[in-house]
Amino acid sequence: MNNKIYKLGDPGGKTSEMILREGSLGPATLDIGTLYRDQSIFTFDPGFMSTASCESKITFIDGEKGVLLYRGYPVEQLAEKSSFIEVAYLLLYGELPSQPQLETFRYSLRRHSMVNEAVLRFFSGFHYDAHPMAMLTAVVGSLSAFYHDSTDIHNPKHREVFAHRIIAKMPTLAAAVYKHGTGQPFVYPKNDLGYCANFLNMLFSVPAEPYRMDPVAAKALDLLFILHADHEQNASTSTVRLAGSSGTNPYAAIAAGIACLWGPAHGGANEAVLNMLKEIGDVKNIDKAIARAKDKNSGFRLMGFGHRVYKNYDPRAKIIRATCHQVLEKLGRDDDPTLELALRLEEIALKDEYFIEKKLYPNVDFYSGIIYRALGIPVHMMTVMFAIARTVGWVAHWQEMISDPHMKIGRPRQLYTGAVKREYVDIGGRK
Ligand code: SDX
Repeated sequence: MNNKIYKLGDPGGKTSEMILREGSLGPATLDIGTLYRDQSIFTFDPGFMSTASCESKITFIDGEKGVLLYRGYPVEQLAEKSSFIEVAYLLLYGELPSQPQLETFRYSLRRHSMVNEAVLRFFSGFHYDAHPMAMLTAVVGSLSAFYHDSTDIHNPKHREVFAHRIIAKMPTLAAAVYKHGTGQPFVYPKNDLGYCANFLNMLFSVPAEPYRMDPVAAKALDLLFILHADHEQNASTSTVRLAGSSGTNPYAAIAAGIACLWGPAHGGANEAVLNMLKEIGDVKNIDKAIARAKDKNSGFRLMGFGHRVYKNYDPRAKIIRATCHQVLEKLGRDDDPTLELALRLEEIALKDEYFIEKKLYPNVDFYSGIIYRALGIPVHMMTVMFAIARTVGWVAHWQEMISDPHMKIGRPRQLYTGAVKREYVDIGGRK
């Protein structure tokens, strides 16, 4: 492939040659790695609006066309035909598994679904109303204290054990977070249940009576987890990559990703959407909410709308929206007025010039909370659900980075506009 070359340099000065590297899909990238060495200048791109931080083979997004591919497979096809565990295998290993490979993977995850009892004792230190994301960040980070001496990140086998362990343990820890908040006893995983059914059982079963597993709920959860599994170099995945690039314990790097996901601009938006819809309350208040969202001084945004990459409908939101009615009906929750309110809000917003001009569409967080709530998941647990699924993507990207022989620690520079050098003044001489 003949890569185009861009040249930069003052007349008579040193010329930098920067290669335009083409990928298999999407925009090419200008390799500026030698720019500072040759020209003593940095590029400036806060928020990374035009910056590729790495090369990756995992997930591709076309924001203009609303396309999302996991290892080349359209998310729509995986949502319709695959399962979360099969998608997890695909994201981790790069190919769809054979039946024996899938069974081996499932068996391995089941063998890692329990957590050390000492981890469960950490919960006694939290108030019952501690935010679930605060507890999840803490207990996942604590896993690095249990495996710090058995995780050689340069050993592929150790990396694989870490990957299976953390993917298997996230539902167990997430369910423990929920149980701590309810005051109910923790429920241990049951390895004869599927990944999502096991999680629902750990969430909602109580020792006092048998738990009736609803297959519709498990299937709806599986779909939501597929759609949330990975999304290229989003903020939390980039956090995991940057934290992991220092060679830190991988459980600590995942905890950093959870902390980042919590923000309302990112994964915390699913909780914020439900709170916003509750605040709007009725269709008659939609126009006022949209007016506030358009008013820069209001500090209010339409949560679940807009996206850094998608300037078209988020394909995940399209799938969730399409299944909302069906799932709510099957769960006997089609009386939930929130869905109608959300649909009406979307309809009005998408006709509004402000949203059209700024290409603001519903994103994955706009409808997901409606289904989660229909499954009995409380609002403050919404982002925990996102974290369970996105752990697969975080691990896949961490593995891709750590196994790259050319990996370097991430260390951005800056445009410094602070004080120039000045001399210290004793306190007596200050104004
Ligand atoms: C996720 O990156 C990922 O892939 C993330 C994610 C994943 O799977 O990992 O997809 C998951 O995080 C989805 C996004 C969830 N967040 C929200 O729903 C919060 C509400 N949306 C936003 O705050 C915002 O749209 C972002 C954070 C999602 C994107 O922000 P950008 O790309 O930095 O865009 P911006 O804030 O510069 O907005 C561009 C313009 C601004 O107006 P101007 O200054 O140009 O006049 O659009 C306006 C914004 O004010 N705008 C909104 C808006 N989102 C953007 N105005 C009203 N309501 C909104 N929701």
